[in-house]
Amino acid sequence: MEVRHLGRSLPLGEERIEILKDINFAIPAGEFVTLMGPSGSGKSTLLGCITGLDSPSSGQVFLNGIDISSMRESQLAGIRNRTVGMVFQAFNLIPTLTARENVEVPLYAGSWKGSPGARSEELLGLVGLSHRLEHRPSQLSGGEQQRVAIARALATQPPLLVADEPTGNLAAAQGKEILDLLWELKEQLGTTLVIATHDLSVSQYATRMLQLADGELVGDHPGPRATPA
Ligand SMILES: Nc1ncnc2c1ncn2[C@@H]1O[C@H](COP(=O)(O)OP(=O)(O)O)[C@@H](O)[C@H]1O
Ligand SMILES: [Mg+2]
Repeated sequence: MEVRHLGRSLPLGEERIEILKDINFAIPAGEFVTLMGPSGSGKSTLLGCITGLDSPSSGQVFLNGIDISSMRESQLAGIRNRTVGMVFQAFNLIPTLTARENVEVPLYAGSWKGSPGARSEELLGLVGLSHRLEHRPSQLSGGEQQRVAIARALATQPPLLVADEPTGNLAAAQGKEILDLLWELKEQLGTTLVIATHDLSVSQYATRMLQLADGELVGDHPGPRATPA
């Protein structure tokens, strides 16, 4: 994916506040990217623009070489379904559905070619939840709910997984399990990961570290797990 001269502003009374200012970076496939920055620095807004949930005020966002920044919602929905998986701090599972059914949702929405039931079971196995298929979110721990959310995000085999503070609602030990799992999935599936966080321990996993401050990209460095050149 690539971001070129990305800006995002919002009207505030007579003026506009600039939330993101001239952001530029490109991420090759297979990286584990952390997007660090204090609360309010623009991390969630940037992820929103990358995933097409939010529209930039200026600049462009390319996913697999396709400029999504000027697309209409009708076109975008299909691209999002196939190209980007999303994981959130609060898990955002549907409370009335079982783990298996939650993972099936994007498969039905995007008309997956194979059997949604079999695919869902395969994914829940991959995240270590084969024994929790028929549990509802309220019957699962926070860490287990986040595993279901990761399985759901990967259901349509997207090349890119974007996570916004994925460990923010978890105890440290559960958070570490989730990060170990995300790393393993990246290695196994080749998925590119972009993780926004203000938790410094997440950066131990990074092959690449982006740093935001006040809506500006102030750092772009190799992480501790970068492949040596
Ligand atoms: N819909 C909105 N209306 C007004 N201000 C917003 C809106 N969304 C975000 N902001 C502001 O933009 C800045 C960046 O927010 P955000 O992207 O959520 O930062 P982060 O995820 O790094 O905490 C904050 O100052 C926030 O108050
Ligand atoms: Mg945020």
